[in-house]
Amino acid sequence: MGATTQICRLGELSDPGSRGFSVQHRGRRVDGFVVQRDGELFAYRNSCPHTGSPLDWVEHQFLDLDGALIQCATHDARFLIDTGECVFGPCPGTSLEPLAIGLDGDLVYLVGEP
Ligand code: FES
Repeated sequence: MGATTQICRLGELSDPGSRGFSVQHRGRRVDGFVVQRDGELFAYRNSCPHTGSPLDWVEHQFLDLDGALIQCATHDARFLIDTGECVFGPCPGTSLEPLAIGLDGDLVYLVGEP
């Protein structure tokens, strides 16, 4: 396993819920977000495959109103929480870029290469 970088605490995430982060990881800046759903965690780079824009307009809000899908605020694309696959909007057939994370007690970590 590569270096680890703390992202947030599990207690800062509701379920379903999301939280954005911007960290220095192995000498590079990584902008991403974590989603918790049914006790499972997923993380993606905060870059929409449509134009590369960040997905959130409101800080830490990456889910739609139902908490069922990840939503890009720019042009309304929707993505599956567990795979990052685009299922609605202007970028079908594309996916969010997953980030590898780990959990150590209450601490959520980014692991591996940036
Ligand atoms: S930038 Fe995300 S849908 Fe256009």
